Amino acid sequence: MIGRLNHVAIAVPDLAAATATYRDTLGAKVSEPQAVPEHGVTVVFVELPNTKIELLHPLGANSPIQKFLDNNASGGIHHLCYEVEDIYKAREQLKASGKRILGDGEPKIGAHGKPVLFLHPKDFNGTLVEVEQI
Ligand code: CO
Repeated sequence: MIGRLNHVAIAVPDLAAATATYRDTLGAKVSEPQAVPEHGVTVVFVELPNTKIELLHPLGANSPIQKFLDNNASGGIHHLCYEVEDIYKAREQLKASGKRILGDGEPKIGAHGKPVLFLHPKDFNGTLVEVEQI
């Protein structure tokens, strides 16, 4: 069912500093910061040859990233995103295996303008998993 690793998302306390690390120290191509209010984040995309890194910073009062940073002051890996061809088919397969879909269970439009679902970390060895339809 799953395809490529689309991205690894890292929550960062200082977006400008993290962007500079990836751009200036590691020499990666980075995007301008992009606000995604529906998900309570500002994102910088780091383009790597085989995947992307998303630097996530809290946006707004109830950002899930703020809670994460409260528990991980220097930041940390927040989630992994796997590509799927059909998000509804993926959802049915996951639900049939007893995996929990977060939120209302309906796909939301993610940071790349494509439908995404988030899956319960307790069902995936403590890792928050995002699936994105490509
Ligand atoms: Co993501």
